[in-house]
Amino acid sequence: MIRGIKGVKDIPPSQIPKWSVVEKTAHQLAQGYGFKEIRIPIFEPTELYIRSIGGATDIVEKEMYTFLDRDGSSLTLRPEGTAGVVRSFIEHNLINEPTCKKLYYIGPMFRHERPQAGRFRQFHQFGVEMVGTTNPYADIEVISLLWRFFSSLELPGLTLEVNSLGESSDRQVYKENLVTFLNPKIEQLCGNCRRRIDTNPLRVLDCKVPQCRTATEDAPKLTDFLSQTSKDHFNQVLTGLDTLSIPYNLNSRLVRGLDYYSMTTFEVSCSSLGAQNAIGAGGRYDGLFETLGGKSTPAIGFAIGLERVLLALPESMIPHPKPWVFVAGFGPLGSQAGFSMMDTLRSIGITANTDHNASSLKSLLKSADRLSAPFVLILGDDEVSQHHAILRNMQTKAQEIIPLSTASFTLKDRLSG
Ligand code: HAM
Repeated sequence: MIRGIKGVKDIPPSQIPKWSVVEKTAHQLAQGYGFKEIRIPIFEPTELYIRSIGGATDIVEKEMYTFLDRDGSSLTLRPEGTAGVVRSFIEHNLINEPTCKKLYYIGPMFRHERPQAGRFRQFHQFGVEMVGTTNPYADIEVISLLWRFFSSLELPGLTLEVNSLGESSDRQVYKENLVTFLNPKIEQLCGNCRRRIDTNPLRVLDCKVPQCRTATEDAPKLTDFLSQTSKDHFNQVLTGLDTLSIPYNLNSRLVRGLDYYSMTTFEVSCSSLGAQNAIGAGGRYDGLFETLGGKSTPAIGFAIGLERVLLALPESMIPHPKPWVFVAGFGPLGSQAGFSMMDTLRSIGITANTDHNASSLKSLLKSADRLSAPFVLILGDDEVSQHHAILRNMQTKAQEIIPLSTASFTLKDRLSG
């Protein structure tokens, strides 16, 4: 037997109703906010992710699925969607397409992380990217969509944290101050953070190791280094969130694990999820287009981890299965009539099914029971010769005789009732 890969899950049919409701909500809300769907490749040149996410990030250093193509070029399974969307934007000059400024995507992403509850090596994201404006209203709109997605699905225990990373010049000055603060404390930091002081000092701030938390308790705050422009922008975003009654906490340590961010960043956590409680996150990435060789173009977006949404989804949000009918045709005439009846029912939009391995009424009813059929239409030779069928309600066990000529309409009526 060949087993599936660790951290890479099958989604069995029993889980599909949950996925459908989550995906449907994503499509409806994103489109309701004026976003158009884009589908980007699952693998891209490795260089795309190194340049966008950053060579000194966990994703690029340890988590990418990278392999050589037959011609020797290095390819990587996408660890996230933003880089691919921006690559597509630049390559196809989408910035000149008025309808393409707001894009969304739903699909699998790949990161070689240690699998645990809510953390997988193949997982799915619903993401949006709004391109071409620095207006704080864009930030508010994107965060509002994120928040509305979660509230539409009635997810409990959510906290939205927001921060501003400022412009890159603000961060440069801040980084120097942070490194000066961290250097004398190097002995107290974990191995990862010691390395990060040189490569990516901001990341030391969101290290979860308790000793690093203690050592950085009094670290200078990025918000104290913001320029007036950055402060004004951030204040307008916060005012907008207040206006829309979206609750948030300020978190000056929220630096995010991808290097492309600037200005507004945000993350939503869900208290019922345990250690892997980040359910969605995003921010501005006003410098990424230039980093990837495009014209300077501001942008902002988010991505939501759909497996985590499913883990937090209340039972009440899972739709009941649509009523359907099991057709039990038996005997030479009954089987033939049953088969034609299924076709008629399907042609008028009624879900119909049978069991081709069952030939007696007893075995057909047993099969209908196993499939939890709400209704069974019984058609034996006797029924066919008398031009009627028996409709059995499997829950109440009540049976009624209905004329064959109008059976499909009777069923449509019963099923919609
Ligand atoms: P991210 O924070 O790396 O951001 O991922 C977004 C979300 O994906 C996380 O909050 C989490 O819910 C989910 N996620 C990440 N890794 C895993 C995993 N191994 N297993 C299950 N779920 C996971 C981004 O990906 C950015 N591209 C977001 C963005 C879009 N920023 C701007 N635009």
